[in-house]
Amino acid sequence: LASSLLANYCSELYDDQAHKVDKYLQCLQLSDETLMDVSMRFRREMDKGLCRDTNPAAAVKMLPTFVRSTPDGTEQGEFLALDLGGSNFRVLLVKVMADGMQKVEMESQIYAIPEHIMRGSGSELFDHVVDCLANFVDKMGIKDKKLPLGFTFSFPCQQTKLDESVLLSWTKGFRSSGVEGKDVVSLLRKSIKKRGDFDIDIVAVVNDTVGTMMTCGYDDQHCEIGLIVGTGTNACYMEQMRNIELLDGDEGRMCVNTEWGAFGDDGALEDLRTDIDREIDAGSLNPGKQLFEKMISGMYLGELVRLILVKMAREQLLFQGKTTPDLLTTGRFSTSYIYSIENDNNEEGLTSAEKVLRGLSLDPSVEDCIATRRVCQIVSTRAAHLCAASLAAVLRQIRDNKAAEKLRSTIGVDGSVYKNHPEFPRRLNKMLRRLVPDCDVRFLLSQDGSGKGSAMVTAVAYRLAAQHAE
Ligand code: GLC
Repeated sequence: LASSLLANYCSELYDDQAHKVDKYLQCLQLSDETLMDVSMRFRREMDKGLCRDTNPAAAVKMLPTFVRSTPDGTEQGEFLALDLGGSNFRVLLVKVMADGMQKVEMESQIYAIPEHIMRGSGSELFDHVVDCLANFVDKMGIKDKKLPLGFTFSFPCQQTKLDESVLLSWTKGFRSSGVEGKDVVSLLRKSIKKRGDFDIDIVAVVNDTVGTMMTCGYDDQHCEIGLIVGTGTNACYMEQMRNIELLDGDEGRMCVNTEWGAFGDDGALEDLRTDIDREIDAGSLNPGKQLFEKMISGMYLGELVRLILVKMAREQLLFQGKTTPDLLTTGRFSTSYIYSIENDNNEEGLTSAEKVLRGLSLDPSVEDCIATRRVCQIVSTRAAHLCAASLAAVLRQIRDNKAAEKLRSTIGVDGSVYKNHPEFPRRLNKMLRRLVPDCDVRFLLSQDGSGKGSAMVTAVAYRLAAQHAE
């Protein structure tokens, strides 16, 4: 009896606490109507980015990628890839075999990029990248091979061809000086030349969304969207050439990198942004930029939760009104805490909450743990739902392009939040189905997609070049 009473008491307490937080954070809970409205707004932003006249002032840049076809399975060869801009910097060696069975083998190595290099000079950054590449080819025994290389560079870039890519602006944690406005392929080649002990054939620069779409496209021919929810968030999709007004030619399709992280940078989301969103932005490396990304991606989710906890403590709603220096430290609430606090098992989730809060030198009550878990749920649910809203707009665009009533489509997806958050994929999927009920959507998780993908783009470019030469 005692234990059932206790269980009853706990569940009442739970509902009570959750309810209190729900009320407090009402502005972070977006209704289906609001999300539908966000989706419509995003669709208009896409149009703005695609049209020649409106593109210069558009927040969502809709960048042409010069990737025109997904793999057809006949690609083959040995390729190098660099993957810069996610939670890790990696160098990869990818072997693509076309012996009737599509097969890809891969070796890879993670290298650290110290913070002083991320925020130092551009030449330091590229010299470091090339030093890591040199170490890798040395270790693999391929230093004399001059292999073709694909460069996954996960930042907004203006491309004029596959192997020329001008950085528009840094996003996420990077701020190397003297790179914005420059072609990153030239910078990479310069650093390789400076070392002078090996040579590489740089064939393609690819955004991580594009890499992810291409990797999944190798397994599923329906894959025409790439999605990243990781340190940053973004998506790309196959658009009709006739709709890409910035480029000549009306035939066929080309992949467009939406750079949807910048949605709202022109004020389009002001009615939905809260004090907490403004606070995050003000304390970031790029104030006023990537406002949609700052509501969604892994670089910011933990910090959003921390700022809410501080605010609630200050208003005597948590921790008996107490804060600690740890709780008050920027970046101290890691996004990975959210993953464990939102464990599907309620009890394990609460235990994690307690552990995390004690780690911040707090002395939490059960109520505090329940409230913290609820804060995490609300913040990450908003992220998943906003993602669903923009994704729904992309799906509607593809459906209209095909003049199809019902669209069957695959989304290749990668990123730490999508992969590690226990509920994010389910919430995203569920809301997407509500927003576009007439689309039959499949999510395909891409293993190492962003890095492997630039090797795939390089492989496709090689196949096409060989066909042309015939
Ligand atoms: C940021 C970058 C974008 C990238 C995304 C995910 O939004 O600007 O290019 O795709 O992060 O890594």
